[in-house]
Amino acid sequence: MSSKEAQEAFTADTCLTLANGEKIPQIQLGVWESYDEECYNAVLWALEAGYRGIDSAEWYENEHICGRAILDFLSKTPTLTRSSIFFTTKLRHNVSYDATRAAITRSLEQSKLSYIDLYLIHAPYGGPLIREEIYRALVDAVKEGQVKSWGVSNYGIRHLQEILDKFPDHPPLVNQIELNPFNTQSEIVEFCREKGIILQAYTPLAKSQRFEDETVKAVAGKYGRSSAEVMVKWGLQEGFVSLPKSVRKERIVGNLKGSEGWALEEEDMVKLRGLDEHFVTEWDPTDCP
Ligand SMILES: NC(=O)c1ccc[n+]([C@@H]2O[C@H](COP(=O)([O-])OP(=O)(O)OC[C@H]3O[C@@H](n4cnc5c(N)ncnc54)[C@H](OP(=O)(O)O)[C@@H]3O)[C@@H](O)[C@H]2O)c1
Repeated sequence: MSSKEAQEAFTADTCLTLANGEKIPQIQLGVWESYDEECYNAVLWALEAGYRGIDSAEWYENEHICGRAILDFLSKTPTLTRSSIFFTTKLRHNVSYDATRAAITRSLEQSKLSYIDLYLIHAPYGGPLIREEIYRALVDAVKEGQVKSWGVSNYGIRHLQEILDKFPDHPPLVNQIELNPFNTQSEIVEFCREKGIILQAYTPLAKSQRFEDETVKAVAGKYGRSSAEVMVKWGLQEGFVSLPKSVRKERIVGNLKGSEGWALEEEDMVKLRGLDEHFVTEWDPTDCP
């Protein structure tokens, strides 16, 4: 968890440090369900606004568009280089060692970014043997320089423990799960904190389905903020990487700028945590076999 003072000083450049020493921007643009020119513009506007991380996936079918927008942005911003931008993508299908290596190579070719900053296994499906095989493929891609940092998504405690036991030299650096005041996943969060695994909060805005909640509105009113700003700030102040998604320029800018220069009082963090209802917006594979 980050202190109130640290949150008041939060900016687009604020990073967390992964267990391998790499820095990860604490707020990043999510691009699920963003396609074609809409996705291109969203990524460009985000980078122009100051975001330095983009969260894509093979599943989103927009790695090529994200890569093009990042490279176009860099070509007109000579003060920045490839290393200034943090690009994440994820494995779509859990099949085998070879299929995972091929998928990582394909993601690199699609994005044209020369390396992937963070590669995640998107979900724990497939059982223990497949999980071990695909993770081994990811570790080998890291050793060969295709990927800088590695991790998982939607992994429950049992899946994480399995990987920690089998890969003591390469524990997952990140677990990306659904996290917002309406789905706090406290047991997984506590486990990850204990193990030094950084949590990424996906669906930090609960897909805009809880903005009218009375508690969120009351907290927002107290600080003169919007419900969206309160929900993003809650995740940042919990110490998560937040991945708000929008394709609208004013929201992309607002979600970033609205997270700067203020913090929630601890009493409001507690109130927001109390809203947990395990609200799952799309899927929750954290307890799959
Ligand atoms: N690993 C996984 O399994 C997984 C699963 C889901 C998501 N993710 C990642 O997390 C990212 C974010 O999650 P998400 O896309 O599910 O949902 P989200 O960020 O919680 O919410 C996105 C929705 O909120 C709207 N919105 C954004 N900012 C707003 C604002 N300031 N005011 C009002 N509405 C606003 C967006 O509409 P507009 O676009 O029209 O503005 C969109 O409908 C994804 O894009 C993806 O990168 C990962």
